[in-house]
Amino acid sequence: MTAAASIRLADYTPWAFELPAIALNVNIHSDHVVVTSRLSLEPRRPGEPLVLCGIDLAIESLAIDQTPLQSEDYSFNDGRLTIPDVPGQPFVLETCCRLDPYSNSSLEGLYASGGLLSTQCEAEGFRRISLHPDRPDVLSRWQVRIEANRSSCPVLLSNGNAVREESVGADRHAVTWDDPFPKPSYLFALVAGDLREIRDHYTTASGRQVTLRLHVEEGDEPFTAHAMASLKRSMQWDESVYNLEYDLDEYNIVAVRHFNMGAMENKSLNIFNSKLVLADAETATDAELERIESVIAHEYFHNWSGNRITCRDWFQLSLKEGLTVFRDQCFTAALHSEAVKRIEDVAMLRNTQFREDAGPTAHPVKPAEYQAIDNFYTTTIYEKGAELIRMLRTLLGPERFMKGMEVYVQRFDGTAATTEDFVQAIADGATSQGEPLGFDLDRFKRWYHQAGTPELSIDRQWNPESGELTVDLHQATPPTPGQADKQPLVLPVAMALVGKQGRVGEEQLLVMEAERASITLQGQPGDTPPALSVLRRFSAPVHVRLEQPLEECLQLLASDDDPFCRWDAAQRLARQVLLARAENQPKPAVEAALIQALDQRICAYDGGDGMDLAALLALPGMAELEALQSPVDPLALDQAFRAWTQEMGVQLQTSLRSLLELTRADWTLAWPAGQGGRALTALAWRWLAAAGHTTVQAEALAAVSGPSMTLARGALRALLPLERAEREQAMALFYERWKDKPVILDAWFAMEASAPRSNALERVQQLLEHPRFDPLAPNSLRAVLGGFTANVQAFHAIDGSGYRFMAEQIAAVDSRNPITASRMAKVFSRCASYGPERQKVMREAIDQLASKPLSANTAEVVQLLTT
Ligand code: TRP
Ligand code: ZN
Repeated sequence: MTAAASIRLADYTPWAFELPAIALNVNIHSDHVVVTSRLSLEPRRPGEPLVLCGIDLAIESLAIDQTPLQSEDYSFNDGRLTIPDVPGQPFVLETCCRLDPYSNSSLEGLYASGGLLSTQCEAEGFRRISLHPDRPDVLSRWQVRIEANRSSCPVLLSNGNAVREESVGADRHAVTWDDPFPKPSYLFALVAGDLREIRDHYTTASGRQVTLRLHVEEGDEPFTAHAMASLKRSMQWDESVYNLEYDLDEYNIVAVRHFNMGAMENKSLNIFNSKLVLADAETATDAELERIESVIAHEYFHNWSGNRITCRDWFQLSLKEGLTVFRDQCFTAALHSEAVKRIEDVAMLRNTQFREDAGPTAHPVKPAEYQAIDNFYTTTIYEKGAELIRMLRTLLGPERFMKGMEVYVQRFDGTAATTEDFVQAIADGATSQGEPLGFDLDRFKRWYHQAGTPELSIDRQWNPESGELTVDLHQATPPTPGQADKQPLVLPVAMALVGKQGRVGEEQLLVMEAERASITLQGQPGDTPPALSVLRRFSAPVHVRLEQPLEECLQLLASDDDPFCRWDAAQRLARQVLLARAENQPKPAVEAALIQALDQRICAYDGGDGMDLAALLALPGMAELEALQSPVDPLALDQAFRAWTQEMGVQLQTSLRSLLELTRADWTLAWPAGQGGRALTALAWRWLAAAGHTTVQAEALAAVSGPSMTLARGALRALLPLERAEREQAMALFYERWKDKPVILDAWFAMEASAPRSNALERVQQLLEHPRFDPLAPNSLRAVLGGFTANVQAFHAIDGSGYRFMAEQIAAVDSRNPITASRMAKVFSRCASYGPERQKVMREAIDQLASKPLSANTAEVVQLLTT
């Protein structure tokens, strides 16, 4: 294992040249590609050598102002081309390189996916296509000519507008694209292949006619309507909320089967993982439809937050990702339910980001250094980054926040900016009418540099005579790797008192800036204190440490007017129940009270939009519980989940059965209508099936062949934990029905791999050899290997067999695809929290991985796991 050198934020210097224009010519042949580029360069610091990046490129020729360079005029090694002597005046460098996209399995740069050639340049993939500085602060105007065989590549796409089409000889053709907006290389994209086009139109608020084109493989055309409709909704929302319009005449989206991430916002040519495009109610679940809508929106919103305003360097990644996640969260909230979306986002934050913040790969939203930038496309950069922006909005209020956004766009349009630029613009906009900011901006900025999840400890005293509740708060952030000492942060803490009849008095926003703060809330005099509703809407991404008696949680669950806090109260009780069961010390009083409260909620359901109820009933995630247990015993937690699911099925059977009757009317409604009823149906099936209700098992089995993917998958999820014939039958039916649709079959692979069975490891090995398993598709790898890590009993087997298996698989994936492998290596990040016996076998697996020849990406993660 060799560790790469670190890149440091403190070392940032602008590039020594400007690169106002690039002309690229991409010549595609059946076994190689030749790329020539003409870079118009202007020295900013004459005398400095020209250094460009290039990986896996064979240089055919180099010339400056048409004079060919000789081999002694330059050096090319370790991915760097250095030309020591270049003109002190503007000049043109022409480069010609040969590359082989057909044997590129990394899915970075230019690569083949099926019969298609496609690109992925973020973060540093363009250097695998052509010699270039490949840094986000070098913005150029691009012209791209693509030439290829007409029959194998009838479609030739790049960024901007198609300005010319030509025939070349008998069987070749070329298309030239011009992008009028200067952009960095990571936003370059190219697609060549035989694709089917679905076309639609959108007229912007100011009357621009935009042609919307979706490009998919033949046969996938019927599954594009949802993506197209989502795109139009996104365009409309950004106009009406941010006053931001689309700026070109065409917008292209291409669906690609082999893709490392979800999707990519290349200017006017988004490239999507096909699982985030192809969908309808029969082929995708409600949750997947919502996810597709939000990712289409995310990539579209990047056109402003990312493309028109880009990042100065990769330390600023959250400038575009945090902001764009925040924007897509608001979009989904506006189109569906604000409360349910907030609950979904917080559940996700707690189970992924909090977990990252508590482990060896913890890092700030703005890291100070990295080895491989691909490792920093994390939930901290994305989701915690979005929380920081949400806190700014909470602190300033929506109007002043929007004023700040206007200043940001107007001040930085067409440039590469930093997160400081962003925060300053928001502050300047918010204070433009003369109002003070209301909090310490420098302290707020600490959020960007300080890793770890703050712990907010709360104490209170009740004064029965005056009816005042005095609340004392204390904040502390635990140390994270490389950051022992932490400073206090600005925390917006929304609070209210809740009595039997609901909220008492107004909600208060406490802006906590120091380690300690205190606030007095006014309630009704009396002996029983009101319940404290704190961190309403999850107003800051922190852990709350507050002793809340059972009665108080029940009161919040019953009468808090903040749906997030109602949900949170139920979650708290469920966590107590599950943890106590995992420790073999069940809490009968809490269990009975929670069951009763849930029963009341279920009985009160009148057939309306059931999404809030479904959210309220959902169990907390495994990762949240692991954070509360020391040492972590995954097998005991898994057992607790199963036993509690079964117990709920037994205790709630009467109301769950009526719930099933009530929700049946929702089964056939078209998304988003009916999704609440379907979610409730799936929950009831799961709990009742766990409790052994055979009629429910039969009903679920029938749904696998039915018209709703949501119900089919809900049914499978209910049957999966049962080691019974119905499960095998249901899985076989699903397989037969969908075996020709890779996107859907991946769900089957994931379920097969996660199903508990005595020979689970063997089954997973078979899946990797399955004729329909595609080892080059990250979706399939994640399905099988991710499914296996969710198979708690098998992955966490105390003999270490599951860990060793994963280590082997990660090393194998790493030799083909470092980005996907290094993400997978994070499955070992909990190591230090297990007991000695489990730690020992997991360490052995990590060491086994460390002993293999690893990519820089995976080496960086493994190094963090072992220090
Ligand atoms: N910028 C992409 C987004 O919208 C992320 C992304 C897509 C990416 N593909 C990638 C990042 C490959 C690194 C490598 O979030
Ligand atoms: Zn993004």
